[in-house]
Amino acid sequence: MTKCWQPLTFATIGFLIGLIYKEFESQFQVFAAQPVSDPSSYISSTKTDLVDVVSDVMQLGFPSYDTVRVRKSYVLGYDRRNKIPNWVCENLTPDLIRHNPNVTRRKTEYFEDESIHPYFRATLADYRGSGYDRGHLAPSGDHKRSQEMMNDTFVLSNMAPQVGVGFNQDAWNDLEIHVRRLVPKYKSVFVCSGPLFLPRRMNATRTKEGRKFVTYEVIGENNVAVPTHFYKILACETDGNLFDMEAYIMPNQYIAKSKPLTDFMVSQEAIERAAGLLFFNQLKKSDFRTINGKTS
Ligand SMILES: *[C@@H]1O[C@H](CO)[C@@H](O)[C@H](O)[C@H]1NC(C)=O
Ligand SMILES: *[C@@H]1O[C@H](CO)[C@@H](O)[C@H](O)[C@H]1NC(C)=O
Repeated sequence: MTKCWQPLTFATIGFLIGLIYKEFESQFQVFAAQPVSDPSSYISSTKTDLVDVVSDVMQLGFPSYDTVRVRKSYVLGYDRRNKIPNWVCENLTPDLIRHNPNVTRRKTEYFEDESIHPYFRATLADYRGSGYDRGHLAPSGDHKRSQEMMNDTFVLSNMAPQVGVGFNQDAWNDLEIHVRRLVPKYKSVFVCSGPLFLPRRMNATRTKEGRKFVTYEVIGENNVAVPTHFYKILACETDGNLFDMEAYIMPNQYIAKSKPLTDFMVSQEAIERAAGLLFFNQLKKSDFRTINGKTS
């Protein structure tokens, strides 16, 4: 069984299930079920057998499909348990971010994402009085081509609770501005941003390392999760079809103005392992010209 046969099969099964359940999203879920390591051991049956298993076992419905939402000028993957996005991807071009004087933040309003089931939907009330900002993952400042596009970045499924002063309004905003300044230097800049929940060691002593825990606050009736960190990863497309890569992890806390952005640079792998996501996996290592400013 060849490797290329497999994605095709899953695509086909995904498509069939999509038809059976009339759920557009299901195609993504079946892709997600594909094991990355040694898939050959997993697939020992024929295409038809797999479809049979799915239509038999899952006839009462899937507990989830990967929740992907295509917005007007960006795409997000939603985390239904935490009520925030897992990842938000943009492809920034000079045309998209160019300042149009008719487009303004003053004409925008935060709104709830009605396409998310009410159990998993963050609400305006969840954020109210929480002390946290509704932090955009696709920044409104990146989507100035039309008022419609800017408006569309104010959907709560594009938000996560962020510390306001020192983070959302400062260090994270500086990172967003840095990204926009890169855009005119490239054909386009692919950006993915999202939350992280990183473990910390507790009760460490001189002789003991301490055990690791992930702890985070939740806000509102719906327990919207407050991430411990945020990541941003960029693939900047050069004229030669090579890419300059930059990757950052920042803690969701007050960050002193004096700290340079370069202090937060990390490897792509560090984000991927912590997030459980793979970024830009259509690119090969040899497609990267630089990584975090260093020739690769
Ligand atoms: C802004 O709006 C004015 C009046 O509607 C229009 O004439 C102008 O072309 C618009 N500018 C841009 C950049 O869309
Ligand atoms: C943008 O959102 C505001 C506030 O909800 C609304 O009044 C306005 O009509 C929207 N504009 C566009 C172009 O969608």
